Amino acid sequence: MEKLSGLYVHIPYCTSRCSYCAFAVVHNGYAGRHRYFDALKRELEGYLELQGGEFVGFETVSFGGGTPSLVEPELIAGLIDAAPLIDEAEISIEVNPESCDPQRLAELVAAGVTRASVGVQSFDDRVLKYFGRSHDAHGAKVAIEAVASSGFDSVSIDLVYGAPVESERSWDYTVDELIDLSDLLEHLSAYALQIEPRTKLHWMADPPTEEADLAGRYLRLDERLAEVGLKNYEISNWSRPGAESRHNSTYWNGGGYLGIGMSSHSFDGQTRWWNVANLAGYLACVEGSGRAVAGSERLTDSQIAIERIMLGLRTSRGLDTATVAVPGRFLDRELEDWFEISGDSARLTARGRLLADAIALRILQSVEEGRDKDETD
Ligand SMILES: C[S@@+](CC[C@H](N)C(=O)[O-])C[C@H]1O[C@@H](n2cnc3c(N)ncnc32)[C@H](O)[C@@H]1O
Repeated sequence: MEKLSGLYVHIPYCTSRCSYCAFAVVHNGYAGRHRYFDALKRELEGYLELQGGEFVGFETVSFGGGTPSLVEPELIAGLIDAAPLIDEAEISIEVNPESCDPQRLAELVAAGVTRASVGVQSFDDRVLKYFGRSHDAHGAKVAIEAVASSGFDSVSIDLVYGAPVESERSWDYTVDELIDLSDLLEHLSAYALQIEPRTKLHWMADPPTEEADLAGRYLRLDERLAEVGLKNYEISNWSRPGAESRHNSTYWNGGGYLGIGMSSHSFDGQTRWWNVANLAGYLACVEGSGRAVAGSERLTDSQIAIERIMLGLRTSRGLDTATVAVPGRFLDRELEDWFEISGDSARLTARGRLLADAIALRILQSVEEGRDKDETD
């Protein structure tokens, strides 16, 4: 069993649901948050007991949601105290602009939180309204300034591009605003809007943004970020050198992590398991047995190898050149244009990253054909 180096804690509370959101969130039930935190602690203690004193400590903790910044910092602090941690652990939290008052932020820093990620999504009020956000662009800027002056080691923001109401001009305005604030940021995540089933946007069924426009927006963002020292290290993530998210890098490097809370997922390097996704069910299970596992899947070695290729393609770690090329020659000539090779590593170019899934498929086919050929030779 791989060491579980990351701890993910799911905090499901939100004041309202955003139009794009398919995450496991609740906008009532907040009154029961103390009971929920008791359940989180019980789940964590159950895992630590299973380790029988062998466990050294988590390297990273990530509070996600939902809106973890909605709950009192003392609840977050209590959970941090309950989790064994290595020295210099990264402890990150997702914060929303409307719950970013300086007092609350100072208490999170005092509790040991090292990294805050602000859900901004856009600096265009029209887009924010379309997303059903409960803040405007001005509120987002005030929040970023408050977070940046609160003493976290690292500040990140989330953006979403490609809303049907977003024009090229609107996106370029968002990027201009971001660049103006970039001195305050060590990290940024920018996701292409996904229309998920059972969301308000799915039901609205507005015509989606053309792929070519999405690609243009991504490439312009990537170029502008590089100019201010924020470098891409995963398809949707950019950072200053050394400020990459250590927690998310565990996911992308195929490492082990424990998830606690409703709907959270865990992985030990071979088996994935996931928790009950509704609040009442989660509480009933943990209060009854200390656990709330709803299902699990043991990956085969070949599934793990495939995931490694897919994850490697998404990150600046890239792939071992041996995976894409037999000495001096690409397995598939058409792939060559999408990669840059340095030493033993083959990484996708910015344009290549836009085609990562299709390229992964081509590589897997080439690897499969190579294997068949070896078997018939
Ligand atoms: C777990 S979510 C919520 C974080 C935070 N509570 C907030 O709303 O600002 C984390 C991030 O995922 C991104 N996200 C969520 N749903 C998405 C979707 N359907 N398409 C693209 N990005 C999405 C958003 O950028 C969001 O900030």
